[in-house]
Amino acid sequence: MYSRAEVQAQAAETTKPFPAVDLRSDTVTRPTPEMRRAMFEAEVGDDVYGEDPTINKLEHRAAEIFARDAAIFVPTGSMGNSIAIKIHTRPGQEIICEERGHIFNYEMATLASFSGCMVRPIYSELGILHWEQVKKKIAGPTYYLAQTGLLSLENTHNMAGGTVYPTEVAEEICDRAHERGIPVHLDGARVFNAATALGKPVAEITKKFDSVMFCLSKGLGAPVGSMLVGSRDFIDQARKYRKALGGGMRQAGILAAAGLIALEKMPARLHEDHANAKFLAAELSKIPGLKIDPATVQTNILIVDISGTNLASNDFTRRLAEKGLLIGSVNNEIVRFVTHMDVDRAACERAIQIVREVV
Ligand SMILES: Cc1ncc(COP(=O)(O)O)c(C=O)c1O
Repeated sequence: MYSRAEVQAQAAETTKPFPAVDLRSDTVTRPTPEMRRAMFEAEVGDDVYGEDPTINKLEHRAAEIFARDAAIFVPTGSMGNSIAIKIHTRPGQEIICEERGHIFNYEMATLASFSGCMVRPIYSELGILHWEQVKKKIAGPTYYLAQTGLLSLENTHNMAGGTVYPTEVAEEICDRAHERGIPVHLDGARVFNAATALGKPVAEITKKFDSVMFCLSKGLGAPVGSMLVGSRDFIDQARKYRKALGGGMRQAGILAAAGLIALEKMPARLHEDHANAKFLAAELSKIPGLKIDPATVQTNILIVDISGTNLASNDFTRRLAEKGLLIGSVNNEIVRFVTHMDVDRAACERAIQIVREVV
């Protein structure tokens, strides 16, 4: 991950006369002209009073699309996950998730500081958990064991390379957990990518989860915002915890206007990002020193082992940045490429050319 100075140096790259190809994340997308117009024209009100019509519309549409009672707009995916965890758990409980999961590694231990829980992680090479693994980690009824309060799955799994849960695998985990009275949350930051890869509606692949968080501000291209969907009672509680975390916003319809376009229109183009990711994977796998199995690339994220280049990943990413390609460093040997709507096939071809030159 980057220091602040490195982030600033990379930002300088993106503003050069020929903007860099930015494959660091799908969070770098900029709102489309249609989104900017909608933001400009948005009808707004005070959302803490429930009076912002554009927020209300977005929440209503998200609930409809996921076939749930209700939804709530939150500023970030991290806040959505934190709220869900708070509602599902009690202090002193454990949460089972995959070892490289976002809630465990990249949310500032909020599940500990806000909800008083800890993680019981399970490693799985492709990030996909199976019930046989999960069941071994559920705490027995012994009184001195911290009890399992929640299972949290990530679909797609970011750090495992955008991998997708087969629906029946996720559903078995939900069904078996529910038999034991344990709720299951979905960190679905990129659940529309998962739905695209599976060729199924998001409502179908998420129906067994107790709550779902998804992001408008990643592959869907909105500038800000995520949603939490679930039962009416769950969303009523979420509204209180959102306020407690300082996430009660006022004329937030400005953001929801872009969010509505992200939700309604942008899922239909995600297959382009997936095709570009597969192209990148196929080309990168031919470059000596880089290790990636193109068969594992299902959506828009590539996790690449560069240890064969004898370059540390920060060195590697710096050299690429000097030539106009930005990618992410995960650790000393692993880097991440993420395709998104602001990078077309020609930009991906340029990216490959730059990697070849550096390696
Ligand atoms: C899988 C996953 N969950 C949650 C988040 C958090 O989203 P945000 O950056 O909006 O807090 C991210 C962000 O990258 C993510 O990749």
